[in-house]
Amino acid sequence: MDAIILLGGPGAGKGTLADALRKQKGFFHVSTGDMLRAAVKSGSDVGLEVKSCMESGELVPDSVVLNIIKERVTRESSSAQFMFDGFPRTLEQAEGLHTFFSEIGGVITHVFNLDADREALICRLTARRTCKTCGAIYHIINMPSKVDGICDVDGGELYQRADDSEETILNRLEVYQKQTAPLIGYYRDLGLIRDIDAGGSAAETEALVLAVLNG
Ligand code: AP5
Repeated sequence: MDAIILLGGPGAGKGTLADALRKQKGFFHVSTGDMLRAAVKSGSDVGLEVKSCMESGELVPDSVVLNIIKERVTRESSSAQFMFDGFPRTLEQAEGLHTFFSEIGGVITHVFNLDADREALICRLTARRTCKTCGAIYHIINMPSKVDGICDVDGGELYQRADDSEETILNRLEVYQKQTAPLIGYYRDLGLIRDIDAGGSAAETEALVLAVLNG
């Protein structure tokens, strides 16, 4: 069982890239952000616990995230290749993943460090729209849907994420720098970091990552 990790600040394009890699390479996509949003929407105990953290752009507790990851990976253990999007986000999560994944015979092959400048990240997030039904991601300028407000894939309604307000975006960027950016050094020491310039178009980023995966 292999896994790759998509590491990058808010708006780096992790979700957009994950969708492309899922289609091209058949990875099983595991997004902690999507799982936590689903928990909030369902009103489950986990959802109630994490709602306020997510609304303010803070990280949810490591124990909660590690539990949902273990549960999902165990349930999908027949999948050959996992793609972790937005996880791990702290050193404790990285170490927890390492222990758990080694126990089940898993190997992390690449950690893609998606790097784009701060202004680009803010511009991408303030103009992001997401489908309420299938989760497809758009940008009202860079990647608009064919019909304003309607998903091209399934006709679902597009919405703006609650944490994409300018104030919350600025906090998410700060949280990323303090708590997640140290993982770049952690994974570089393990020889797993693949630096990717994610400042170009989504197609350019995808091509850079595919070149590594196919190389
Ligand atoms: P999460 O959902 O993971 O949010 P994030 O990391 O802030 O990342 P985003 O989803 O905002 O951005 P992205 O990099 O996926 O970019 P996207 O492809 O959408 O987490 C949300 C919250 O959940 C966290 O704040 C935290 O509270 C909690 N959480 C989640 N995981 C956690 C964990 N492990 N531990 C603790 N808490 C956790 O693209 C953005 C926009 O840009 C889109 O409009 C897209 O169309 C556009 N775009 C994408 N690529 C390009 C490109 N190359 N050029 C131009 N536009 C582009």
